[in-house]
Amino acid sequence: MSLAHGIRTLGVLGAGQMGTGIALVSALRAKVPVLIHDRSPEQVKKGLSLVDKLLAKDVSKGRLTSDDAKDARDRIAVVDDLKGLRDVDMVVEAVSESLPLKQKIFASFAAELKPEAILATNTSSISITKIAAAAIPEGLSTASKEGQTIAGRVVGLHFFNPVPVMKLVELISALQTSEDTLNRSRAFAIACGKQVTTSKDVPGFVSNALLMPFINEAIMHLEKGIATREDIDTTLKLGMNHPMGPLQLADFIGLDTCLAIQKTLYEGTGDSKYRPSVLLERMVDAQWYGRKNGKGFYDYD
Ligand code: CAA
Repeated sequence: MSLAHGIRTLGVLGAGQMGTGIALVSALRAKVPVLIHDRSPEQVKKGLSLVDKLLAKDVSKGRLTSDDAKDARDRIAVVDDLKGLRDVDMVVEAVSESLPLKQKIFASFAAELKPEAILATNTSSISITKIAAAAIPEGLSTASKEGQTIAGRVVGLHFFNPVPVMKLVELISALQTSEDTLNRSRAFAIACGKQVTTSKDVPGFVSNALLMPFINEAIMHLEKGIATREDIDTTLKLGMNHPMGPLQLADFIGLDTCLAIQKTLYEGTGDSKYRPSVLLERMVDAQWYGRKNGKGFYDYD
């Protein structure tokens, strides 16, 4: 096993779709022991049962031996609090898209983790630079050498959903991120079987700065009655060979997540091309979040 990344144990914070997927590829592909934490024990249970299901499917399709599946599963353990992550070499935070929540988490990380551990965030649009500044403990100057060393361990490591299937990780450097943090994070993503692209720390990075206006435009086409949801999706699926149409993709990502990303893009750039459509705002007001809770542009069982 290559340890160019130096990650002997990984911590994952958040056991939703993204956190669970990251835990799985790390345990299975990078063969790294993973400690996962979520404040909701039900969420952890749900996440681990998805891991079991995906491993069993790979075994049944002959892509994995049952011994390898068992080894991967045995590498994943649950911890009850942040203190349980104190000995890991890297944490990937995959909680919901909220800057105050991420700032709070990173502020508490710095105190709990080993001083050389990498602090990665799976955010899809929030400024890594802001998150890195929050990792510096209160009372310590952000301009001090010590403060810069702490912030230099923060990086954006953006996985895509579904993590076991999607081949990309987007690596985002904050203003403060050190070269060593970037290199080790890249090596770790490669060990997880991913191809890595890099982006500067701009709102939405490369991926969502391009994807979200596309999704939003599709929603506005629906809103204006230009075409039905099916015709919009079919046009993009069959006309452009996209695996999903933009409305299906929005449901898949989560309408609340799409709106949060679009707001970050709009507020971060002031550019009207990123203004979320009223229909998306209203659907989130109605708590129609897409696949995750059964109702979005389409209905799900
Ligand atoms: N977790 C793990 N594996 C999954 C999965 C999930 N949630 N959903 C589907 N898969 C697997 C299936 O098990 C299947 O695997 P096998 O080939 O081993 O059987 C494979 O994906 C194909 O699935 P299906 O045959 O059921 O369906 P499909 O061919 O329609 O593919 C899809 C499903 C892979 C999701 C495909 O529709 C797709 O690629 N869609 C686009 C996804 C995409 O664009 N993701 C990025 C979203 S943006 C993002 O994540 C970042 C952000 O910041 C918002």
